[in-house]
Amino acid sequence: MKIAVLPGDGIGPEIMREALRVLDALGLEGLELTQCDVGGAGYKQHGHPLPPATLEAAKQADAVLFGAVGDPDCDNLERALRPEQAILGLRRELELFANLRPATMFSGLEDLSGLKPEIAGQIDLLIVRELNGDVYFGEKGIRTLDDGRRQGWDMMAYAEDEVRRIAHVAFRAAQGRKKRLCSVDKANVLETSQLWRDVVVEVSAEYPDVELTHMYVDNAAMQLVKAPGQFDVVVTGNLFGDILSDQASMCVGSIGLLASASLGAQQTQYGTKGLYEPIHGSAPDIAGQGKANPMAMILSLAMMLRHSFGREAEAVRIEAAVSRALADGVRGGDLGGSDGTAAIGDAVLARL
Ligand code: IPM
Ligand code: MG
Repeated sequence: MKIAVLPGDGIGPEIMREALRVLDALGLEGLELTQCDVGGAGYKQHGHPLPPATLEAAKQADAVLFGAVGDPDCDNLERALRPEQAILGLRRELELFANLRPATMFSGLEDLSGLKPEIAGQIDLLIVRELNGDVYFGEKGIRTLDDGRRQGWDMMAYAEDEVRRIAHVAFRAAQGRKKRLCSVDKANVLETSQLWRDVVVEVSAEYPDVELTHMYVDNAAMQLVKAPGQFDVVVTGNLFGDILSDQASMCVGSIGLLASASLGAQQTQYGTKGLYEPIHGSAPDIAGQGKANPMAMILSLAMMLRHSFGREAEAVRIEAAVSRALADGVRGGDLGGSDGTAAIGDAVLARL
């Protein structure tokens, strides 16, 4: 079971350390871990945010465990050399088109949500975000118009097969949950969204057991804070999914708690090849201080065991240990507490 371990920048290495302690404690046989530099660390060591050796290790692996990228030192580099290009490059090169971002309320944290506790308590949703298309990967540039004004432009486009494959992932996910799927778009304005909607409706014919609804993204942003309990699975494009998943994380109380899986079509002998990362970033302001909450990273490890290695029992054990730690009052700074990175790792290990 080959795992490429890419801690990355900022708090990435510290939270990765705790996740690897948890992995170690499970005592699984046959693991082969390869650590590589990525992001700002990749640029500083090897001159590129996604060095060839890192990409190769990710290609060879059955799964990629990813910390975070983003380094203020690199913000003024040309776009192609900025740390964010590492994660975008991995998503593209490994064709990881389906991003699963679950957001579930942990019991005991209702008071920490920005929402009223009784509303926050209802949150149990999964955002399925398309990850290989949209304005993220369309042609883009800054050009000078005939009259001399500069114009920035990014092409938003989805081909029908791109929509179809993410729709299938979302319908299947809904079948394994409460069988409700909400497709989020902006079909009242965008042609890209009109095609998205048409294709999702076509695909729905194959899933008569799933109830499909559609919502414009502005309304979805509102409904997510007004009545998040109405959502089961949400499927949406790359840009809308980026925004809504950050919003969903704050409804749960902290971005420090949410994990994600990025999956493609490739099957290994153990499961689906994927990349697993917390949805938060590198948090340079607290990097190196032992303050970061490693729970989202640890929960990403659980998702890896589930999706890439078929180890549901171990995934559930890790998730239960994190839930229990939270229920017992373990709190990182992101949750208004003072437990440090290693102490939270210890607390999870003790409950494993
Ligand atoms: C995310 C991040 C990335 C994205 C950035 C780092 C490129 O915000 O994974 O949500 O926009 O997809
Ligand atoms: Mg984001």
